[in-house]
Amino acid sequence: MPSLTINGRQVSYDTGQTILEAARANQVHIPSLCYLEGCTPTGACGVCLVEVKGADKLLPACETPASQDMEVLTESPQVRLARQEALKKIVASGAHNCFVLNIPPEKWNENQLAMMEHPWHGALCPAHGDCRLQDLVVEYGVSIKDIEFKFEPAELDDSHPVIIRDFSRCISCGRCVAACNQVQVNSAIKPPKDLAEQQANSWLPVVDYEKCTHCGECVQACPVGALFEKKAFGRINGHEAEKVRTTCPYCGVGCQLWLHVKDGRVVKVTGVEEGHPNLGRLCVKGRFGYDFIHSSERLTAPLIKENGEFREASWDEALDLVAKRLTEIKEKHGPDALAGVSCARSINGAADRAADQGERRVPGGELGRGPGPGGQAADRDKGEARPRRPGRGELRAQHKRRLL
Ligand code: SF4
Ligand code: SF4
Ligand code: SF4
Ligand code: FES
Repeated sequence: MPSLTINGRQVSYDTGQTILEAARANQVHIPSLCYLEGCTPTGACGVCLVEVKGADKLLPACETPASQDMEVLTESPQVRLARQEALKKIVASGAHNCFVLNIPPEKWNENQLAMMEHPWHGALCPAHGDCRLQDLVVEYGVSIKDIEFKFEPAELDDSHPVIIRDFSRCISCGRCVAACNQVQVNSAIKPPKDLAEQQANSWLPVVDYEKCTHCGECVQACPVGALFEKKAFGRINGHEAEKVRTTCPYCGVGCQLWLHVKDGRVVKVTGVEEGHPNLGRLCVKGRFGYDFIHSSERLTAPLIKENGEFREASWDEALDLVAKRLTEIKEKHGPDALAGVSCARSINGAADRAADQGERRVPGGELGRGPGPGGQAADRDKGEARPRRPGRGELRAQHKRRLL
């Protein structure tokens, strides 16, 4: 296996890995802002710069291939200074008002004042407490007071049904483009290379709403507050969220979710980046279809129909009634008169439970398990291996092959 030296330690790497991938595989921290795992690097932010012996300038770790006997320094004074400068430039380029709020209003300069007076920016940014740029500014001790803000107001786009785009906070990192085109393969955001040259110079991620499936992957990929969920806007900042991990209830794929909970209510949903099978990816239902949880129309108790009218009942009463009626049918017509149906889109646990309950509670009965979650579970019980889902790197390779 080839090897290189990072901060004086010899580590091995896989052929084809970049310095960033080799470092992370060996638990060495190199910060990044524009890099999205498994996608083509854009090299846009300059935060992952490292020193490589023999190179005449600092190199971006996310784009530079690792090579045999390379000597890399990830935290030298020169590297830290370059990262501070890169972060200063990014902060200065947009309406990053969370930093301005630390300065007393009487000390705001003209640009800072203009930023705070711009509609939507008088209040704290929705990404506050969950912003990669903010974290890095703190990590690298970037001094905000001497930053020359070049605030250029940009209109806020709230024409999308579930996403708000605030381009005045966009850092042109390209992560949303990669998330849409390479991770979800929806191709709804034009890559900068497809834009005319003069547009590419002042590039902003423009979305083709005809192609957009409203999956929200771009929002999850955005490292700052340029994209955010319409339903969550103004209701939660990152640091306030209690995160609860759960499985999406909508289908048998079983995507892993984080519920962001505030005051006992779910106000936002994101995918679990390291959780199988979805590795962070979600569809529109899993990410945005959570209103039912707190709906006043939701049934919270069993209903029994009597004389054409429903009345509330206890679970004991309802289950006793169902068991009594099923037993009556079986005694009168035999066990073949009973069948159970569970939705093929149920999660594995629910489908399996329905089948088990049917078999156990209706002695003499037999429930066939067709293809679907229940059927797959039965196959697993027989020791058959479940097909492995591809990771992001493999998906990217598959995507490239499809394009060829
Ligand atoms: S995007 Fe991040 S850095 Fe910019 S204002 Fe929002 S929280 Fe602050
Ligand atoms: S919501 Fe999904 S499909 Fe629409 S732009 Fe974002 S990533 Fe692309
Ligand atoms: S919208 Fe967000 S993810 Fe997309 S380029 Fe701007 S900052 Fe990056
Ligand atoms: S993470 Fe490498 S240039 Fe942005």
